[in-house]
Amino acid sequence: MNTPSPEAAAPADRIRVALVGTGNIARFHASALRSLEERAEIVAAVDVEPDTLAAFRSRFAIPAGYGDLAVMLERERPELVHVCTPPGLHRSQVEACLGAGASVLVEKPPALSLAEAEKMAAAEGGARGPWLATVFQHRFGSGARRVRALADAGVLGRPLVAACHTTWFRPQEYFDVPWRGRWETEGGGPTMGHGIHQMDLLLFLLGEWTEVSAVARRQARDVETEDVSLAHVAFANGAVASVVNSLVSPQEESRIRIDYERATVELVHLYGYGDSDWRITPAPGCEEELTAAWEAGEHGADSGHHAQISRVLDALRGGTAPPVTSAEALRTLRLVAGVYASAFEGRPVTPADLGPESPFHTRMDGGGVRW
Ligand SMILES: NC(=O)c1ccc[n+]([C@@H]2O[C@H](COP(=O)([O-])OP(=O)(O)OC[C@H]3O[C@@H](n4cnc5c(N)ncnc54)[C@H](O)[C@@H]3O)[C@@H](O)[C@H]2O)c1
Repeated sequence: MNTPSPEAAAPADRIRVALVGTGNIARFHASALRSLEERAEIVAAVDVEPDTLAAFRSRFAIPAGYGDLAVMLERERPELVHVCTPPGLHRSQVEACLGAGASVLVEKPPALSLAEAEKMAAAEGGARGPWLATVFQHRFGSGARRVRALADAGVLGRPLVAACHTTWFRPQEYFDVPWRGRWETEGGGPTMGHGIHQMDLLLFLLGEWTEVSAVARRQARDVETEDVSLAHVAFANGAVASVVNSLVSPQEESRIRIDYERATVELVHLYGYGDSDWRITPAPGCEEELTAAWEAGEHGADSGHHAQISRVLDALRGGTAPPVTSAEALRTLRLVAGVYASAFEGRPVTPADLGPESPFHTRMDGGGVRW
C-alpha cells in the first residue's frame, strides 16, 4: 500500500508521531516528517534540555513539549515515536514506547549490545505491532535498491569480492561530547557508530555473513574505543569483503564496491548518495545487456531519512512491520560484535560464536580491552 487512497490521506488518518531527543539528528527526522504531512502529524517532542526543546519546537511548529518521556506517552498516546537520543538511552526509551503501545523508529546504533537489542526485539508486539524499526537510511536510495534488484534477478551474476570503506575524519574535540568515544555510552568507535551504515548497506546487498577476521586500533585519538578497524568478512553466497572503518582519514569518503561476475558496481559518497554517485562497469561481453538493465532499474530517490521514514509510514498505515526490522538490524549489529570479538580475541569469529555465552554478546568490548 504505497499510494495512499484519498480517504487515507484525510488528516484524521495521519499517524500521530512524537520525537524524543531534539539534537542534531532529530532535525533530519522532523524535516522529513514535515514534508510527509499528508501521512504524519508531529504531536510532541521530548528533551531534558529545555532550551534545546524550545528551539526545536519553534523551528518545526510542534504543539507540545515534555521533559519526561513517560508523561508524554501517557498524555499524547502517539502511534510512532522517533528515538533520537544518545545510544545509551535507546533500550529503556524504546521499551517504554513499546510498552505504551507505540511503534518506534530508533536511531542507529539501536542498542549498545546484542543482548540489549534482543531484549528490545522481544518487547515488540508480534504480528499486529507495536514494532521496532532502526534507522539505516542508506538502504532506501534508488541506487541501492537497483543493485539489489539486479542481483536478486541474477543479472549481475555471483558476487565475488567487495570493499566497504568508511574513512572519515573526526578531530579530538568531536569527542568532547560526554557520550562519545566510550564503550559504556557509545558502545564502540567507528565500527559501531559510523561505519555501521555502510556495513548495513553491504549486508543489504550481500546477505548473510558467515565469518569475520578483524583488527582494531587506537591510532590517533584519545578515546576509550578504537578509532580504526579493518576486517575481512566472508558471506554465505561465497563473496569476500574488506571492511575498513576509520575516524582519522583527512580525505573523507564512504565507498562500497562489489565485483560481481558480470559487472563491478561502485558507490562513492560521504554521508548520503544520489543516483549519480553510483557507477557500473560491465565485464567484457556484457556491456549492452548490463547498461540497458542499469538504465531500466529504479531511479530518482536519494538515500536519507526522508526515503526511509516515508516507507516506515507506509508500512504502519498498511499494518505491517516497518523497515529496518529488528531481525535485520540484529544481523548488522552481530557483524559489529563479530569485528570486536575477532579483533580482541585474535581469531576468526562466526555468528554462532556470539550467543549469550560470549562476553561480546553483552558488551562490544567483551568486558574489557587491553590496548
Ligand atoms: N542516521 C544517521 O545518519 C545519524 C547521524 C548522526 C547521529 N545519529 C544517531 O542519532 C543519535 C543522537 O545523536 P545526535 O548527534 O543527534 O546527538 P545530540 O547530542 O545532538 O542529541 C541528543 C539529544 O537527546 C537529548 N537527551 C539526552 N537525554 C535525554 C533524555 N533522557 N530524554 C530526552 N532527551 C534526552 C539531549 O538533550 C540532546 O538534545 C545517536 O544514536 C547517533 O548515533 C545518526
